[in-house]
Amino acid sequence: MQQKTTLNATSQFHKDVYKGLSDFPKHLSSKYFYDARGDKLFQEIMAMPEYYLTNCEYRILDLYKDEICNEFFKGSKEFDLIELGAGDGKKTKILLKHLAVREIPFQYIPIDISQNALNQLESSIKNELPTVNVKALQGTYFETLEQLCSLQHKRKVIMFLGSNIGNLLHPQAVEFLMSIQQLMGEDDLFFIGFDQKKHPKTILDAYNDASGITERFNKNLLVRINKELDANFDLDKFIHWEVYDPETGTAKSYLVAKEKQTVYINEIDLTVSFEAWESIHTEISQKYDDQVVSWLADKAGMRISKIFSDENKLYKNYILKK
Ligand code: AVJ
Repeated sequence: MQQKTTLNATSQFHKDVYKGLSDFPKHLSSKYFYDARGDKLFQEIMAMPEYYLTNCEYRILDLYKDEICNEFFKGSKEFDLIELGAGDGKKTKILLKHLAVREIPFQYIPIDISQNALNQLESSIKNELPTVNVKALQGTYFETLEQLCSLQHKRKVIMFLGSNIGNLLHPQAVEFLMSIQQLMGEDDLFFIGFDQKKHPKTILDAYNDASGITERFNKNLLVRINKELDANFDLDKFIHWEVYDPETGTAKSYLVAKEKQTVYINEIDLTVSFEAWESIHTEISQKYDDQVVSWLADKAGMRISKIFSDENKLYKNYILKK
């Protein structure tokens, strides 16, 4: 038993749940959405008509693949195409395929925390695009990138799709971009997706779908705590709530307690009391415009080199340079 307690005390998930549910106001990190069930729910979100982000980015890559590939290849012999958090690679495959068709020499290096996701991606690429040279690397973004950069000095194109940067507040986003910038050489590129400010209703619908998939995704945090930390959250006593602030461009997700209640989390020996209508903040999904992206890039020692957008300007992909 002693050993179990020590082990638990060192797990980041245990610590973060303890801290987040002891704080006022309460919060949990969106990075914990993504266990096997959360991954599946996110796949379902990407397939929903309301979740325009995935379709828009797919459109942009498809519309501008030739121009994007020109930018990637510019002036180099062979380059490394490094993708942070590749997922199922559905969008990336558009570019991989186009590079392969044009016989441009490159190595595709997807980096992900999940070995399982990488295995699936690698085998699907080997099937569908057998001429593409893939070398998957398992680990956290920066440890893996740093290792890679110390071992290799080929030109790098780093990709970060899906507006994943939107989960970060601006100061964290600048820090993230700075870490990328420090690993980039003069000729390297950073290709990144930023979801754009738009009609607030469009954003609210994307994060509060009528079919309740996003609600299940948000509540998966509680499912995980129940499963992994032996807790007794009653999911029916919480609602999913989404707000969007057009002034800051920030969409925020909450879980809100419908009634006064107490939850016990056995593994961290924590009793959590909720007042009626008390909230747990669970995610931010930041929306941007060119000025904000330019400001973030500038703070991180980068500049915008190219912008690609879908026809309705709902979403944009930027090429950033040092
Ligand atoms: C994967 C972080 C880009 O914020 O749009 C989707 C996650 N959350 N629906 C986003 C998410 C609710 C998504 N990102």
